[in-house]
Amino acid sequence: MSEITEAKCMKSPIRKHKVFVRWKPEYNLGIPLIDEQHRGFVAMLNSLYYGIQNGHVKNMIDPIINMIDEYSSIHFKMEEELIERCFFPGAKAHSELHKQLRNKLVDIKRKTSFEKEPYRLMELLKKWWTHHICVEDLQFRNYLLESSDW
Ligand SMILES: [Fe+2]
Ligand SMILES: [Fe+2]
Repeated sequence: MSEITEAKCMKSPIRKHKVFVRWKPEYNLGIPLIDEQHRGFVAMLNSLYYGIQNGHVKNMIDPIINMIDEYSSIHFKMEEELIERCFFPGAKAHSELHKQLRNKLVDIKRKTSFEKEPYRLMELLKKWWTHHICVEDLQFRNYLLESSDW
């Protein structure tokens, strides 16, 4: 293993790394399980961004997109169970939104030329995700907070 010198650290790509999505207080719904999973998505997006900045486009994009796909399926299922249990009147419509979100992700995967336009991909994913948290999930927030069933 090579020795880490100060000179090497100064040249390290880590220094160039910027966080793509910084978690904001308005992303918190106040429901720990959901907030934790939402943060998980943000961590995946930031990992992908880090990889792109440091030249790992080919190796990282497909596995992380597949992970986002898989993780969203798990998250949406859990969220749908919770909102049904607390009798959120928009539960069915919200499930439909989840279906649309997953279709959109499939579309992003299909249409975006990841390797040529990795930052375009990042912007699409960021928009896809923050809109979900800040607009769509916000609708059931109060129902869940008032219910003790989570
Ligand atoms: Fe949702
Ligand atoms: Fe959610």
